[in-house]
Formats: sequence, structure tokens, C-alpha cells
Amino acid sequence: MKLIRNIKGIVAFSRQARLKGKSIGFVPTMGALHMGHLSLIKKSKKENDITIVSIFVNPIQFASGEDLKRYPRDLKNDALLCRKSGVDAIFCPQVKSFYPQGYKTYVQVEGLSDHLCGRFRPGHFRGVTTVVAKLFNLVSPDTAYFGQKDAQQALIIQKMAEDLNMPVKIRVLPTLRHKDGLAMSSRNAYLTKEERRDARVLYQALSCARALVRQGKKNVAQIIQQVKSIINKKKSARIQYVLFVDTQDLEPISRIKSPVLLALSVYIGKTRLIDNIVI
Ligand code: PAJ
Repeated sequence: MKLIRNIKGIVAFSRQARLKGKSIGFVPTMGALHMGHLSLIKKSKKENDITIVSIFVNPIQFASGEDLKRYPRDLKNDALLCRKSGVDAIFCPQVKSFYPQGYKTYVQVEGLSDHLCGRFRPGHFRGVTTVVAKLFNLVSPDTAYFGQKDAQQALIIQKMAEDLNMPVKIRVLPTLRHKDGLAMSSRNAYLTKEERRDARVLYQALSCARALVRQGKKNVAQIIQQVKSIINKKKSARIQYVLFVDTQDLEPISRIKSPVLLALSVYIGKTRLIDNIVI
């Protein structure tokens, strides 16, 4: 497995693979890899000749006051996991070469970026689409893999690739969860033992909503009220949003239809966690 730290290196690696007629699968990450990331890598391995993983804590997708500085970083362990998973190359650029002084170009998907997390994290999705567009240019993947855990991010990237005619197929894979239902996330590492226990309530609340919808309940406000009251029972929880939205345009809906995306963002202590299900 190659560990590539510079721009020239990744371009050369990808060109070599391409010249040999190999298909390239790409998994962009911010590291602190867990089973959720590994499920994307596994799929890429299955569907491509070469798998490239990027590990880059992208500063421009963090607003000031967010957790950029303390975001978990463990390249040694990440590299070990990648090697074990049969990854061909890790690309981990340095911030100053990725965004050199005088950097001025940003990619923004309108509309989709304003809903859900976009309302609370100004500039976040602009940072995500910019880094992913740059990574796509460097890696030239045939297929790139994203998680449904970040449903809004996946939709925005699909839209960007479509609108900018990027020659890459976007695959969105299911959310991997711990046994107790909590979605795997690098940010779970911030939780204290007690908070980790409380965090189970997110998936419990989502599951309750799913059951209500399946029973035929149609009143969105009532179901959201139930979800919120379940979450609010935990002392450490503070809800940012709980919303039923259209699975394609992310516009809030007022009456249940099928399919529908139920998405939430909740602070558990100081840690902001997101989760969602499609019903
Ligand atoms: P990161 O949070 O490291 O996630 C990398 C990829 O793993 C994303 O596509 C995310 O949706 C997916 N993922 C995370 N948790 C998952 C889970 N429990 N099950 C399945 N997939 C999961 O998302 C980012 O990094 C960044 O915004 C990035 C796209 C790399 C741009 O900087």
C-alpha cells in the first residue's frame, strides 16, 4: 500500500493505474476510520481494480468555533486498517499544499446546501463540495463511495457531479450502526461513558417514528413531537433539528409520503451527532 502525501504523487499514481486499464474506486474520508468507512472501502474493493482512500481533515468545511482542532487524528491506525482492508493507496495531503496561499476557488450547490445541517453550519457544504471536487480532479475515480449516514452530503455531491458533468459514478451505501443502534461516527469518540449511553436515544427515537409511520400515522407534527419528547428525556441531549423532508430536494414535508427522509441533529453534551432513516 502506498502512502501518498503530495499532489503530484496522487496524480501520477492514478494516471499509472488508468494507463494499465484499471478501474479506480475512491473513498474520501477525514480519517479516524471505523467500520462505517471500512464498509465503503470493502464495496470499492469489490467493484474496482484499485481502491484509493483519502484522509484529510478539511479545514474549510469547519466553521469557526467548530471542532477542527480537536477532530480525532490517528494516521498510524488508519493506515493499518487500510492496509488490512487491501487499500492500494492512501492520499493524505497537507493543508498548505492543498489550499496554498492565495487559494480562491469554491464549489457550491445551491438550494440543497441550505436545508437541514446547512442552516446551522454556514459554509459547511461549500467546504465539502470544494474538497470533494478537488479530490475527484486529482484521483479521477470511476466510482466514489459515500455513506447514507450523511444523507444531505451524499445528495449534494451527487448533484455537484451531475451538474458539473464529472465523469464519476457516486455510490451511496447504508449507515453502519453499533449493536445498540448508534450510527458509527468518528465524533462518537468525544462522548463520555454516560453520554455514549444517552446517545442510543437517537436511533430509538428514529425507530419509534418509523413504527408510527408504518402504523399509518400521517401527522408530521405529531410524530416529530413524539420523537422530540423521547430524545428530551435524556439529560445530556439538546435537539438542533428533527425534520421530515423529501428524499430528493430535502424540502420539509407536511404530510407523510413514501419514501421520506427523517433526519435529526442532536447535541449530546457538547458533541453534535446527526442521524437519519428513510421510511
Ligand atoms: P467522514 O466523516 O470521515 O466520512 C467519510 C465517509 O464515510 C462519508 O461518505 C460518510 O458518509 C461515511 N460514513 C461515516 N459514518 C458512516 C457510517 N456509520 N456508515 C456508513 N458510512 C459512513 O464525510 C466526510 O468525512 C467528509 O465530509 C468528506 C466527504 C471526506 C469531505 O471532507
